[in-house]
Amino acid sequence: MTVSNEISTRAAQLREQLNRHSYRYYVLDTPEIPDAEYDRLFQELREIEAAYPELIAPDSPTQRVGGKPLDAFTPVRHALPMLSIRTETETGGAAAFDAQVRRRLELGSDAPPVDYVCELKFDGLAINLRYENGLLIQAATRGDGETGEDVTANVRTMKTVPLKLLGAAPEVLEVRGEAYMSRPDFERYNARQRAAGQPTLVNPRNGAAGSIRQLDPLLTAQRPLSFFAYGLGETRGWIVPATHSAVLDALAAWGLPVNNERRVAHGPEDLMAFYHDVAAQRDALPFDIDGVVYKINRLDWQQRLWRQQQRSNLLAREPHWAVAHKFPAQEELTVVEAIEVQVGRTGALTPVARLKPVFVGGVTVTNATLHNADEVARKDVRVGDTVIVRRAGDVIPEVVSVVLERRPAEAQPFVMPERCPVCGSHIVHPEGESIVRCLGGLSCRAQRQEAIRHFASRRAMDIEGLGDRLVEQLVERDLVRSPADLYALSEGTLAGLERMAAKSAANLVAALENSKTTTLPRFLYALGIREVGVATANALATQFGTLEALMAADEERLQQAPDIGPVVAKAIRAFFQEPHNQDVIARLQAAGVCWPDPVRPSVESQQLAGMTFVLTGTLESMTRDEAAELLRVRGAKVSGTVSKKTHYLVVGSDAGSKLDKAQKMGVAVLNEAELRAMLGMGSRE
Ligand code: IVH
Repeated sequence: MTVSNEISTRAAQLREQLNRHSYRYYVLDTPEIPDAEYDRLFQELREIEAAYPELIAPDSPTQRVGGKPLDAFTPVRHALPMLSIRTETETGGAAAFDAQVRRRLELGSDAPPVDYVCELKFDGLAINLRYENGLLIQAATRGDGETGEDVTANVRTMKTVPLKLLGAAPEVLEVRGEAYMSRPDFERYNARQRAAGQPTLVNPRNGAAGSIRQLDPLLTAQRPLSFFAYGLGETRGWIVPATHSAVLDALAAWGLPVNNERRVAHGPEDLMAFYHDVAAQRDALPFDIDGVVYKINRLDWQQRLWRQQQRSNLLAREPHWAVAHKFPAQEELTVVEAIEVQVGRTGALTPVARLKPVFVGGVTVTNATLHNADEVARKDVRVGDTVIVRRAGDVIPEVVSVVLERRPAEAQPFVMPERCPVCGSHIVHPEGESIVRCLGGLSCRAQRQEAIRHFASRRAMDIEGLGDRLVEQLVERDLVRSPADLYALSEGTLAGLERMAAKSAANLVAALENSKTTTLPRFLYALGIREVGVATANALATQFGTLEALMAADEERLQQAPDIGPVVAKAIRAFFQEPHNQDVIARLQAAGVCWPDPVRPSVESQQLAGMTFVLTGTLESMTRDEAAELLRVRGAKVSGTVSKKTHYLVVGSDAGSKLDKAQKMGVAVLNEAELRAMLGMGSRE
């Protein structure tokens, strides 16, 4: 049967449309049509191809997952070697690199600053993509730099990799970049594996490496990978631009994913600013990076350095025109010295690994939470084990996995105690929950201690000077049995405690006095009612206006407040019905705790709910993390990248590419004073 012109034209049209939509969806993140419409077009093309297999083209989106499993990967000799990159870990790495570049280019001290392109250092796997006349014809791993492996079938499954370049393409274009697994894809994959009782991935990097090296492309397709382009290999039939930044722009125009967090820096100060900017946002990115990369922007200068270098060492592999400036590692190996069980405010028993101190994520870590008994069992963490510890940003350090090869022969599986390790009470393990709890309530010293610590904390009654050690002593000596007892403490009693001078005792009494005048939301949060966090405390105060009205509300009334469901309503009701709690509240009020201004929400309301903010540059009155926290407690979302969904970009000094992007996209820009006004903080003077 010969294919009519009409059908083959339609097939070509569908291919073109589908590829364009998938580019908009996966690369630009601005889909134009709903998923269902995409699926319909895809189905139509499938049907045509099923009827007329001769119409199946290599750039057809139906061909992303195809072919049979391989027996082995074929070696691929790279047309140009794939180089590695020198790593710098010192804070002064940027300045040292710039000084070397200037010396090697023989630039005098009066020569203008060198232009560099700053990029992210993606934590995945280097890949070379070869396009001939616009079509993806081969993808290879780096291998030893000279010879890699042919992973074309697997790379074709990656939705961000175009099968066909947009617009006019050169005869040969080799694109180099990183295949990686995004954090959400990693989490989703692991959740699915866990549910199926299958092994999970240790981290996204291993996920990417394992996925690329699957012999069955069907398996690769189930472990979704993404791609960022950052350089060139061989090219033919293209006049390569004069700068690396123009090369990246050209790649982006061909439809290749080039990460937006890149900028041209003029001299070493700009490099450092980029380094700090990216470090601050690292944890907000949806993928792992392990640093930033600086590259000389002028390609003729890159080549000059490379030739110069090869004259003295033909085997050179790390060109002098680039350097990777690494961040502190977020994962390290250490040894579990003990597993202890902590009792929290609500009686939850949490196993905690005591670790041989290890420097990770920028701090020395000695403890890592093991969450609960199920988690310990799943990871099978034992005393004596060598483990991978991860600390990302301000997140509590956690044990990722055990290095089984290093397990000592005598290591025993961990078992949860049968009684509370603090008070000896019985333990309950509610059906279907992974948490076990001590039944001791406030008779358990650990629970008392945590309740008081919570009561005094910053977002609750904010009692300055009442630190953990002090709370511990007060509870241990039975000076404080409930939060109400705090207000009966005298300077004399306090001065008798360890590490408590008369002056600090007086300060603490003053701080206690000070804390008495508070707000209703703070007070509600301070009570430590299960399920009631800052946001819920706010909602309750707004809904009920007074403590009396709230205490009188039944579960049905409670559920009328925004975001309060049956579980929370039940917990609140149970708390206020308990005579002991009623007594504590009465005593606190008798001691003078009050909230004279019921409307002013000093525990912030959710006034910014639904808004997305991006922060960039250096702020004067707070760090970006602090600003993000202030926004978040008001219900806003804080994201790392400017997109169509961004409502406001907050700019400090030295704002970079984000500001340009926001302006191009018409996103509203706030300065620090405007941000403070929006947060209800007033101006600084
Ligand atoms: S450029 C000479 N740029 O880091 C420069 N590499 O050894 C060649 N990497 O595994 C590499 N992000 O895949 C370059 N923005 C980036 C990068 C990057 C990650 C990886 C690369 C390779 C290693 C360098």
